Amino acid sequence: MHGLSYSVPGQGTQWLEASVRAVDPACDDVVAIELEYPVPLQAHEAGSHIKVQVIADGRQATRSYSVVEHRGRQRLLIAVRRLDNGQGGSKFMHALRVGDRLRASLPGNHFVLLPGAPSYMLIAGGIGVTPIVGMARALRALRARFKFFYLGRKPEAMPFLPRLLAEFGEDLVVHIDAQAGPFDLQPHLATQPGAAEAYVCGPVPMLEALQASWAAAGRPRELLRFETFGAASDRPSEAFRVSVNRRNIEFLVPPERNLLEMLEERGCEPLYFCQRGECGLCAVDVVSLEGDLDHRDVFLSADQRAQGRQLCACVSRATGSITIDMP
Ligand code: FES
Repeated sequence: MHGLSYSVPGQGTQWLEASVRAVDPACDDVVAIELEYPVPLQAHEAGSHIKVQVIADGRQATRSYSVVEHRGRQRLLIAVRRLDNGQGGSKFMHALRVGDRLRASLPGNHFVLLPGAPSYMLIAGGIGVTPIVGMARALRALRARFKFFYLGRKPEAMPFLPRLLAEFGEDLVVHIDAQAGPFDLQPHLATQPGAAEAYVCGPVPMLEALQASWAAAGRPRELLRFETFGAASDRPSEAFRVSVNRRNIEFLVPPERNLLEMLEERGCEPLYFCQRGECGLCAVDVVSLEGDLDHRDVFLSADQRAQGRQLCACVSRATGSITIDMP
């Protein structure tokens, strides 16, 4: 989990009108979008992201994208993968053209690169490369020891691959699943000192596999820092009914909405931070359940999930009816 602060709904985001200055393919289904802000930006901090307002499923929504790099004082680059089964935010972003305007936040950072480790492993899966590129550049500038692992299903699905090969040379290890099978962290861990740190960004199943290898090697959990995208579940999203104890509120969460936004909409003022199932701040207490919980976070342990007493409202779901308790 990254360093923790939290957001209270309605506070904190300052929206600015940014212009689209360039849209270029970064690989098969990813576009790189250069945005220009109306104000100068602070120097790029590795791991930072911006929020943008999109129209998804007919309504306004917020999406976060890692900043790949800054270009001059007022421009930065993000990259967006098109998700054909998503809620529509990526389609909105892929429809942007040069000259379009959109509301965007200034960069913030939940995935801070901490200096001082004896060695770093930077591990990116697919579009997860976006925050990792800046980390590799920052470590190179610091003359720190690092290895940059870039994992993907096939080269055409890996954004910026040719340019990263040229830029990082031997410091970049490219692993293509279609050619080499699943990535095995163990042999690489064996070459790293005990206090080495890993920074990982990729889909949840990749992170879970890396966490398992990390733990099996006896490495301290806190030295593996991560950012994920997408909620992990093999199950389709179904509507489920929610009662909020002590508040006398009931509502239905439709398949395309999440519990956190529904709680917020009904004035329950839930706390949250990452909105990716990583920090656990949005976890609500489960009082009773008629159906199943569908945990999609990476915060709760296997034991906590099995106990079924908590649910991360930003990504996890239920089937049937659930009663939750909120102060
Ligand atoms: S807001 Fe971080 S886990 Fe839900």
